[in-house]
Amino acid sequence: MDTFEYRDKTLFCEKVKIEDIISEVGTPAYIYSKKAILARYHELKTAFGDVDTLICFSVKSNSNLFICKILAEAGSGFDVVSGGELFRVIKAGGDPSRIVFAGVGKTDSEIRYALENDIFMFNVESLAELEHINRLAREAGKVTKVALRINPDIDAKTHAKTTTGKKENKFGIDFTEAEKLIKQSAQYSGIELCGLHVHLGSPIYTVDPYVSALRKIVKLIEKCRDAGLDIEYMNIGGGYCISYTEEEVIRPKDYASKILPLVKEMQCNLIMEPGRYITGNSGILVTRVTYTKETLHGKKFVICDAAMNDLIRPALYDAFHRIWPVNASMQMPKMEDTKQAGLKKGMDLVDIVGPVCESSDVFATQRALPKVGEGDLLAIFSAGAYGFSMSSQYNSRPRPCEVLVDGDQYRIIRKREMYEDLVKGEVFSE
Ligand code: LLP
Repeated sequence: MDTFEYRDKTLFCEKVKIEDIISEVGTPAYIYSKKAILARYHELKTAFGDVDTLICFSVKSNSNLFICKILAEAGSGFDVVSGGELFRVIKAGGDPSRIVFAGVGKTDSEIRYALENDIFMFNVESLAELEHINRLAREAGKVTKVALRINPDIDAKTHAKTTTGKKENKFGIDFTEAEKLIKQSAQYSGIELCGLHVHLGSPIYTVDPYVSALRKIVKLIEKCRDAGLDIEYMNIGGGYCISYTEEEVIRPKDYASKILPLVKEMQCNLIMEPGRYITGNSGILVTRVTYTKETLHGKKFVICDAAMNDLIRPALYDAFHRIWPVNASMQMPKMEDTKQAGLKKGMDLVDIVGPVCESSDVFATQRALPKVGEGDLLAIFSAGAYGFSMSSQYNSRPRPCEVLVDGDQYRIIRKREMYEDLVKGEVFSE
């Protein structure tokens, strides 16, 4: 399924040479594979096919309209967390009746917008929010479906900044509060409480946190049913891991084999919100070496034209991304070999950095890389999720273009920004 691979010492995406794309679109550029996106969507769908499952692609991982459109055409639903994401999905042709809306701070205008579009369900994170949704639904003369987001107080062992299911996190409602809410839900005539939701963090490299959370939730569902409330939907959120290193990680079927028995026990339809799994390894960021330099202390820097504003994951989470020249006469070493063994093969140990004026603008530290020079292209792998969607114009840097490859064709699905785009909307005269 690896749609990014080296053939004759140069990197391809599907049937297209990366170098050919770059000679037309320039750098930095995000490049995605349509085949990879769809294959990963279908892999999940098949793995969880034993129960009625709605896959809601998590738009925050990659919100490009074209990518949303491809997934909508494949039948995917969507997980949105803002009015803006909802706007994108609707514009891309997504079916509102397959949209779930999460987030701790939905504003009244976002709730109204979602109600107007008859989305499938709100994932509710507090009593205050529930009351707002109820009031606004009644004003609109509607009854809207709601799932309570449970905070099960489970450590999913993710990076501290991407864990969401511990009691100290801002997300969800604890079990005691949930029980109370469920009991009083009949008084809210604008809502139909018919689901439970949980999202533990991301990426999660074992299935255990999901199992622990669902075991706790099974008991809550029993209580709901005793109280005469039918919980039809169990939404298990996202967080399914991908390999950033090429080492084996667990796959959808491994998650499914442990999660499905619990969902069956609950007698619920399943909703999932994968983001990274679908887009992460379906995209790369290509950058060009601007300069190399070596300090008096013997430290070598490769300075490239992409920066933390284009891909912030290394700076924000110390995230590891494989980086290798687009034209490479040697094979990328395995992660554990990148330092010692790699060096024996005549590589350099370098820091790969961007031009932004921050010391954290570093993509990789002390990484083994074949000798590269000005003008060489580097591919930063696993950049399809939380890459462009977290980009900014910091240092007044126009953001990169995005390109989608489909077989032997490719097209620009977002134009490179120009300087004029940087000042769009700014007012500086009377
Ligand atoms: N559902 C909810 C409610 C979420 O908050 C998230 C991600 C997802 C689904 C999708 O998670 P995924 O399947 O993509 O792991 N910026 C970080 C990740 C933050 C994730 C936020 N929520 C990163 O670059 O790793």
